[in-house]
Amino acid sequence: MAEDLIDNKDIYFPSYLGTNDKLITLLNRASQTLCDWFSKTEKNGPFPLDESFKFIMPTEDGNSEEDLFSEIESLLNNSFNPVHPGSLAHLDPPPLIFSILGDLIAAGLNNNLLAYELSPCVTLLEESLCKWFAKKIGFNDFSGGIAASGGTLSNLNALIAARYNAGLSTNPNSVLLVSEDAHSSFIKCIRVMGLDTKNLVKIKTDNQGRMDINDLRKSLDKCSIENKKIFAIVATLGTTVRGAIDPIKEISEICKQRDIWLHIDGSIGGIFAITSIPIEGLNNINQANSITINPQKIIGITKTSSLLLVSNMSTLENTFNTGLPYISSKENIINRGEIGIQGSRPAEVIKLWLGLRFLGLNGIENILKSSIKRKDFFIKNISKNKFDIFSGPLHIVSFLPKKLEPKDSDAWTQTKVNELIKKNFMLSRPKFKDKYFLRVVMGNYNTEESHIEELLKILEA
Ligand SMILES: Cc1ncc(COP(=O)(O)O)c(C=O)c1O
Repeated sequence: MAEDLIDNKDIYFPSYLGTNDKLITLLNRASQTLCDWFSKTEKNGPFPLDESFKFIMPTEDGNSEEDLFSEIESLLNNSFNPVHPGSLAHLDPPPLIFSILGDLIAAGLNNNLLAYELSPCVTLLEESLCKWFAKKIGFNDFSGGIAASGGTLSNLNALIAARYNAGLSTNPNSVLLVSEDAHSSFIKCIRVMGLDTKNLVKIKTDNQGRMDINDLRKSLDKCSIENKKIFAIVATLGTTVRGAIDPIKEISEICKQRDIWLHIDGSIGGIFAITSIPIEGLNNINQANSITINPQKIIGITKTSSLLLVSNMSTLENTFNTGLPYISSKENIINRGEIGIQGSRPAEVIKLWLGLRFLGLNGIENILKSSIKRKDFFIKNISKNKFDIFSGPLHIVSFLPKKLEPKDSDAWTQTKVNELIKKNFMLSRPKFKDKYFLRVVMGNYNTEESHIEELLKILEA
């Protein structure tokens, strides 16, 4: 008699035969546990970590369901809660309901975006959704894109493609130009690309936090005198500290004249480009070669969800194609592990697609407009006599008391952050131009005007 290969048939994996009653019970219990946690938000506050909380590591034998559910509860009760209306520190809004479902489906599906044969339907979904986004921002029929786990990786994909397509992949004199307020991920990108930090040329910003075009021109001339080869210029569409938008039209004209790849880091503001919301400075983005859009940062698609859109898909194919020898290919379908640096990748696109289908364009606009409204309300009501305010067209505000000495900004912001968290408001304290600031990010749909009024009272006390 053939020996049975499976010792204990019913517990580890979904059954391919039965009705999976056990799994259904567990999923129901997990949903209940999660929803109970959401309901305890007010009581727990945005950041309830108990410093003595300890994880138990795996033991010889597996643990009981009861143990595991109790540990899940402890984990939840000690976690940052983006649903709390006082969670205003970062670009981490509450999770969109249909994205939560999308994550569950993607986990159960366990398909792999490495290749069509491991994710036939989801490969086509990702391809179509990237094309939909690309068309929405005004790219033509050659365009498309690739998802990645976060804005940093989308930016890296773009820069590797830019350098490869400029024929500069092995050139140690190749440089990247970004504004001094660009995100720190570009420092990582430069390192990962085997370059020195001096290959990252920083362009000054004006008093609104936008790239200074005169300084850009000067730097371009300096680069050519020093025989440095520019493989890309990055325009930021929404800087991290104050939400400024670089002058995309002027930068794109310079890039066209000099045949330089323009990458737009739209991790924060790019999503506005698929709506009709008027945002000052958000124009001409279809003149770029590539743009990062990171829907996890404002509209609540669960992490991670980031897209790199390119005006011409062949640039990604040229850069990343290896032939993938252990995977079969199908005519006219690109294995998506061959157009970006990630190999195996989960079906994250499902939660983006479901989230967007659920919201529709009106829902997306509603969320984005509400972020801007909250920012406007905050700025309208904060005392201009007491604070210097740094903001732009998006939903981010950094501020400091007037006349505070730079050396005192560290202690003042730390004290305020500690005081605020005790009153269930979580703000961040970015270091920017040698000073610490307090920053509010108004992307939390649960934050109402009454919460902002309460926050302002504490700040101005
Ligand atoms: C402007 C900008 N670009 C890129 C990133 C990096 O995105 P991620 O954290 O998803 O890698 C951030 C993160 O806040 C950002 O603000």
